[in-house]
Amino acid sequence: TATDHLAEQKHLKELLSSLIAVAYDLTAELDFDRLFPLIIGKVTEVMSAERTSLYIIDWERHELWTKVAEQVEQIRLPLGKGISGRVAESGEMLNVADAWELPYFDRTFDQEHQFRTRSVLCMPIKNHVGEKIGVLQVINKKGKERFDSEDEIFLKALTSQVGIALENSLLIEELLLSFNSSIRTLSAMVDARHPLTAGHSQRVTDYSLLIAREMGLSKDEVETLKYAAILHDIGKIGIRDAILLKNGQFIPEERAEMNTHPVKTKAILDKFHFPKGMQEVPDIAVHHHEKVNGQGYPDGLTGDQLPLGSKIMAVADVFDALTSRRDYPKYASGETLNGDPMPLPMAISILKKEAGTHFDPDVVAAFLSCLPQALLLYRGDHFPPEYVDDMIRSLAPDLLP
Ligand SMILES: [Fe+2]
Ligand SMILES: [Fe+2]
Repeated sequence: TATDHLAEQKHLKELLSSLIAVAYDLTAELDFDRLFPLIIGKVTEVMSAERTSLYIIDWERHELWTKVAEQVEQIRLPLGKGISGRVAESGEMLNVADAWELPYFDRTFDQEHQFRTRSVLCMPIKNHVGEKIGVLQVINKKGKERFDSEDEIFLKALTSQVGIALENSLLIEELLLSFNSSIRTLSAMVDARHPLTAGHSQRVTDYSLLIAREMGLSKDEVETLKYAAILHDIGKIGIRDAILLKNGQFIPEERAEMNTHPVKTKAILDKFHFPKGMQEVPDIAVHHHEKVNGQGYPDGLTGDQLPLGSKIMAVADVFDALTSRRDYPKYASGETLNGDPMPLPMAISILKKEAGTHFDPDVVAAFLSCLPQALLLYRGDHFPPEYVDDMIRSLAPDLLP
């Protein structure tokens, strides 16, 4: 009848608009960890189901895995087993009225969670070239015995949107992994050249990030600083062994050559393609030996000309040099301390004394406020407890174990 026809039209319109809304929400979320629960929530809602499981296919291990199956911890299952494992392997949809009647249905979840799986609609997720990348499983249709052919069509449309969103976020994740691994490789190259200072770049990065948070830098500024700090001394791979590994004080010519490392760092980093928002990495890295009074190198920039990131790294860099073993002597108020780490109070007083000449006073202040956290980060690892505990106890006794 005409009324039926109208109701049908209305129903289809509703389905279509919720499909468009979900597609829009899914493609807007690129973070994999947030996308995963978002898909589950949206699909459960628009399919009027009780539960949804989302599995990603790991072709290398021949397994399915899931991050969140509504509050349940990560699950891995072999391809070919159970409903989702079969759908993943065959690539064919499965629509069953009562899962418990299937001999291959695994009741473990139901038994552990006092749940009764009845109707199941399970659909393979494919990427843009038709390769299977996952499985979407909707469980217990509300108000009906089972999922019908309309649900099948609807979930199929939904699944293709899920596929696009998943593939985008997986690609981004992959890209980020490969970017971070090239950065780690570069930084490992400097560490390999000079074992005594290995770990220096990582510590400078961690100290810099603590200062950055203390000073309220933006997300992009923090990311930029992170990569500038981890790579700041990469130019040292261009310094000859005779100088880089020299045990003792430099003569002026050697000092001059050593001081070319920030410029070499910049030359290397200028060739690297940094993601959007991180174009400043080479510029921040090249200025880590500048001083706010203009007496630093390579450009002799003053405080107001220097990027904040470089001024943060300057404090982190010197603090680490003073509190680490070095193969050249340290000098403090006429005393020679060999290559040993300088006593902590002495290192702190150098930072304070040089605030306004070498260092930006705001950066020194920010570093001092997060000093206990910085020391705790490497306590027992780089710092022996007896080296840092007095200082931590005097500043923040609650932090000590
Ligand atoms: Fe340096
Ligand atoms: Fe350094």
